[in-house]
Amino acid sequence: MNSKSAPGMSMEEQDQFIQEVLKRIRYRMVVFSGKGGVGKTTVAVNLAYALLKADMRTGLLDADITGPNVPKMTGAESPPELMGHGGTMIPGEKNGLKIISMAPMLPENSPVIWRGPLRSGAIRQFLADVAWGELDFLLADLPPGTGDEVLTAAQSMKPHVALVVTTPQEVSLVDCRRAVNMAKKLEIPVIAVVENMSGFSCPHCHQDIDVFGTGGGEKMAREMDVQFWGRIPMELDVRRGSDSGQPIVLSAPESGSGTAFTALAGHVITHCPA
Ligand SMILES: Nc1ncnc2c1ncn2[C@@H]1O[C@H](COP(=O)(O)OP(=O)(O)OP(=O)(O)O)[C@@H](O)[C@H]1O
Ligand SMILES: [Mg+2]
Repeated sequence: MNSKSAPGMSMEEQDQFIQEVLKRIRYRMVVFSGKGGVGKTTVAVNLAYALLKADMRTGLLDADITGPNVPKMTGAESPPELMGHGGTMIPGEKNGLKIISMAPMLPENSPVIWRGPLRSGAIRQFLADVAWGELDFLLADLPPGTGDEVLTAAQSMKPHVALVVTTPQEVSLVDCRRAVNMAKKLEIPVIAVVENMSGFSCPHCHQDIDVFGTGGGEKMAREMDVQFWGRIPMELDVRRGSDSGQPIVLSAPESGSGTAFTALAGHVITHCPA
């Protein structure tokens, strides 16, 4: 990556750049879970657009360096433009949402075979070298697990709050407990445990099917003394929207999941008051 802050610059100097950037962002939030594939990116993307619809200036930082999915799910697939000679990146913009991700900077299908320090370095550059401007919210979509990226995001982005995504399934909840404990250790308040893919209404027989069970996220949140927010149903249009870069909160805001994402944004705004 081209950079104004990397060559020959100490971590302390880069931290100063990051501090300058952070001063202009009112609330910073990490979206994470201990487990892969539970819907972190889907939730982060739809929540970001729901915040934008509530007139919040919002940015989305794709902190999943090796598996970046935000561009595919938003349709923001152009690489960032560089400003002047300093290497400052102008974030991509799609439907008003500012987005930065590794994906558009890579040749198609090429893997990012980077060890932890390099991945962490990329996240720091996404803060230090990106012209985010004035924002009300910056959301970071984290990779699965509780590894380097989560730690780097916590240390460099200094998030005010965390949102933890899980499915109701026990195997997801086991990992989710680890994520909640990590947030506690890092002293990031968890303002919402979101139970995603919770219930599916069969479009043919109209029966409700609990593909991954139901209620597990709420029980886990109660046991761990963190706030449960609610459920987002599994819907075909959520998956279709993710694949076509048309988040459901924009394409079908009145759907079950669209309504849920709008309500989640309201919850987040209430917890991050002006
Ligand atoms: N509520 C939902 N209804 C239907 N499909 C969903 C829903 N939430 C997520 N999906 C689908 O589930 C898959 C996984 O979602 P997503 O990529 O958001 O998970 P993730 O936790 O970010 O995964 P990773 O750990 O790989 O980053 C995607 O195909 C997505 O479209
Ligand atoms: Mg993801």
